[in-house]
Amino acid sequence: MKVFITRAIFESGLQKLREAGIEYTQWTEKRDLTQQELIEHAKAHDALLFLGANKLDKDFLNACSHLKVISLHSVGYDKVDIGEAARLNIPVGNTPGVLSKATADTAFLLMLATSRKAFYMHKTIEKGEWGFSDPTANLGKELYGKTLGVFGLGKIGFEMARLCKSAYGMDIIYYNRSNNPEAEQDLNARKVSFDELLANSDVLTVHTALTDETRGMFNKEVFSKMKPDAIFINTARGAIHNEEDLAEALEKGIIWGAGLDVTNPEPMKAGNPLLDMPNVCILPHIGSATLETRLEMTRLAVENVIAGLKGEALPNRVLP
Ligand code: DGY
Repeated sequence: MKVFITRAIFESGLQKLREAGIEYTQWTEKRDLTQQELIEHAKAHDALLFLGANKLDKDFLNACSHLKVISLHSVGYDKVDIGEAARLNIPVGNTPGVLSKATADTAFLLMLATSRKAFYMHKTIEKGEWGFSDPTANLGKELYGKTLGVFGLGKIGFEMARLCKSAYGMDIIYYNRSNNPEAEQDLNARKVSFDELLANSDVLTVHTALTDETRGMFNKEVFSKMKPDAIFINTARGAIHNEEDLAEALEKGIIWGAGLDVTNPEPMKAGNPLLDMPNVCILPHIGSATLETRLEMTRLAVENVIAGLKGEALPNRVLP
């Protein structure tokens, strides 16, 4: 049995594969595979351990319908046509849970950094612009007692809410399809309508999956319903907000600031106007990038490969 791995992964993961008697090929070039290259490599293997920019769409899945398992090295599965994979009986696995704290830390970091214009202030020093001290300049916003609105209160949203509650005593409101009883009990969180979330959040943080429903959801109209001093945080997927509309909302003071770990497209190009805005902090999709978390993600991804190749149920399977 052979697995094709689209990135170089940790040795601990490779060792587990060897112990299970599974051969592997790793793509070690520092570029994404073309769609054609991916299909050719996948065809020569029984399983795919995937991370990258490719789309595992209908065309790909039908060309590689022999695959016994597709294991994603991510919790997000928006690159895969999950319905088609299920139709073709290809189980798809992901890595939930282990990255919740690291990703919430990144959302918290962006919230605090944005509230104090930290990245922009850093740049002024680099440009030799640290001038005299002016008591009316460089002012940020405090977070104590403010309202955090969580769009999508799952595992990551819960961790972000927990951090904000304990650090700043923030009130937590959330928008979700279902209630989150744990958040309601432990954090006094309140489920509200989408419009209430927009109207009342001082910080609005996005923790939902990218789906047809959430794609482009945060657009001009939605930003116009937010508070003019609100901070928008997105550590989920860049395509959930419309980048041009966000830039315009910030430019015109429709909202106050934004902290992004995800952009659309990724990578964001140097020279993007958002990068020069004082109240904006942007990171290159590093939400889960701690050694501890990435080791765990590799472990879960490899466990899914091993189970799939043995014909067993995946420990973490994405269902349509
Ligand atoms: C995930 O796991 O989905 C993170 O966004 C990393 O891609």
